[in-house]
Amino acid sequence: MNHLLTLADLSSAETLNLLESARALRSEWRRGGNRPALEGKSLAMVFQKPSLRTRVSFERAIQQLGGSAMYLSPQEIRLGERESVADVARVLSRYVDGIMARVFSHADIEELAAFSSVPVVNGLSDLYHPCQALADYLTVWDRFDKLAGIRLAYIGDGNNVAHSLLLGGAKLGVNVVVATPPGYEPNPEVVRVAREAAAETGATIEIGHDPIAAARGADALYADVWTSMGQEAETQERLDRFKGYQIGTRLLAEAAPHAAVLHCLPAHRGEEIAAEVIDGPHSAVFDQAENRMHAQKAVLLQLLGSPGA
Ligand code: CP
Ligand code: NVA
Repeated sequence: MNHLLTLADLSSAETLNLLESARALRSEWRRGGNRPALEGKSLAMVFQKPSLRTRVSFERAIQQLGGSAMYLSPQEIRLGERESVADVARVLSRYVDGIMARVFSHADIEELAAFSSVPVVNGLSDLYHPCQALADYLTVWDRFDKLAGIRLAYIGDGNNVAHSLLLGGAKLGVNVVVATPPGYEPNPEVVRVAREAAAETGATIEIGHDPIAAARGADALYADVWTSMGQEAETQERLDRFKGYQIGTRLLAEAAPHAAVLHCLPAHRGEEIAAEVIDGPHSAVFDQAENRMHAQKAVLLQLLGSPGA
């Protein structure tokens, strides 16, 4: 593992190892602090889009491991605009030990990785959000003490978050059910790769349009925004098309009585999720947000740490 661009590149064992490492790092941190395993290491964080969680959780993750991070805003770098993606990768590689990037086009993060001589981590692209899915499955594991055989229902847009949940779930043996409005299904190639991985772990992958059928018996219900960053022009059309795909009390009633409600945040209460559900007793969204930091510590340690340290 040299880069983390998509969970498709990890084996099942590597995915599970990252979650185990995240748990160990979280326990160590809660006992009083992490060992400075990344002392002196630096991470450049390149953003083409806004962020709260990704920026702060990566910065805290590397700081708590003894390293440092620098935030490079969309206005500063203007990736591929002020300077080519390849040149940004080659220049940053001379200064820092790792690059985390949030980009519009997944092709840009692939190009960053191709031209970088230091590890590159995907902090969200139009296709994937791998660090989010690692934190999400860590949260599911915490709640249910197992992953294999858990049923996770993702209701909404077949987007970057849905893609990483499909791939991660397949690798971890989680049965992932996706319900989207017609025309908003996940990318068929991502679904094909997830099904291939699922065949090895015994997980099932179901893609459909019926939110009630998807939610039925689910251990976890997952919502994300209907309009992702960069799609703002489609907001009104999406508000119309996604009606009926809100995780509210109706869908929660279909899920298992112990169901956890997940959302990667930021949330729009009253759109993809009802306020009483995200703020109610089933919600695990702030554990999820915290787990971003723990999962990313595991990723950074794996990619930037010295072997055996
Ligand atoms: N969930 C997530 O990635 O949040 P930010 O966009 O705030 O980083
Ligand atoms: N699908 C959302 C996730 C935000 C964390 C987006 O891409 O905007």
